[in-house]
Amino acid sequence: MNAALRAVVRASIKRGAEVIGFDHGYEGIINNEGRPLTSTSVGGIIDRGGTILRTARSKRFMTLEGRQLAVENLHANGCEGLVVIGGDGSLTGALKLHEEFDFPVTGVPGSIDNDIAGTDFSIGFDTAVNTAVEAIDRVRDTAYSHERVFVIEVMGRRNGFIALEAGIAGGAEAVIIPEEEHNMKLICESLREAFQKGKRSSIIIVAEGAGKAQEISDDIHAQTGFETRAVVLGHMQRGGSPTQADRVLALRLGAMAANRLLSGYRGEMAGVEGTKVVNHAISYVLSTEREIDRERLWLVSAMS
Ligand code: F6P
Repeated sequence: MNAALRAVVRASIKRGAEVIGFDHGYEGIINNEGRPLTSTSVGGIIDRGGTILRTARSKRFMTLEGRQLAVENLHANGCEGLVVIGGDGSLTGALKLHEEFDFPVTGVPGSIDNDIAGTDFSIGFDTAVNTAVEAIDRVRDTAYSHERVFVIEVMGRRNGFIALEAGIAGGAEAVIIPEEEHNMKLICESLREAFQKGKRSSIIIVAEGAGKAQEISDDIHAQTGFETRAVVLGHMQRGGSPTQADRVLALRLGAMAANRLLSGYRGEMAGVEGTKVVNHAISYVLSTEREIDRERLWLVSAMS
């Protein structure tokens, strides 16, 4: 998010605009927490996780009165456009400002969940996946040495993009995600088969929205008798220095969103498709479901 913020600020300044940053997201606009951002104020943040603007979930912004107040504050600060960096909720708010008040907005997809349509990747996903893979690799050392089954829970309330990607890269035996029914009997059967072939340790990845690592671990132990352990990675996936891929993505999308806004485009989100930066209407992005890649699911079962 910091890399994206830096890109928005510097691209806008390059185009002759002045930039105000609002702390605490929409809540901060309602509370009038704006401050001028210069090229220098976004220096030295490209490698920092989180956001220097901090963030908040704003209940007030969900009401029309709250949004009215926010728009009044934007006008009072001389803001002629707003770049919103965030996930589903942030983009929904941006669309409301666009549709209800005709306020010029563009969006930048920022979510470790990678569940935003109109872009192959959202900012944060690559870093989160790499963090999860590193954790899986470390856990595997104990799994192998102690001949155990580990169930590792990763983030993903509504989808399994992190689980699937980290599971493939981490060599997991099974990946349990909200998009796909799972059958514990079949999973236990395949663990037993693997054991018979000489495999003494296994790793199973579960997306938090598909089940609890501890319960799955207990279930596997009850059904197979194997020694099992559960690990929950939690918020460690949300922080840390961003990967090269995330930094470049953030710079490209942040700069594109600022450029499009300054060129008069409204209600769009910048995204990346293949190697190209593209722009889609936020209304399209929010009404489209990002599907899980079936080929990746097959890969997990084929490699286990
Ligand atoms: O939406 C991103 C996400 O990281 C989810 O995967 C996760 O469930 C959630 O945020 C955690 O939110 P909070 O920090 O509010 O508990």
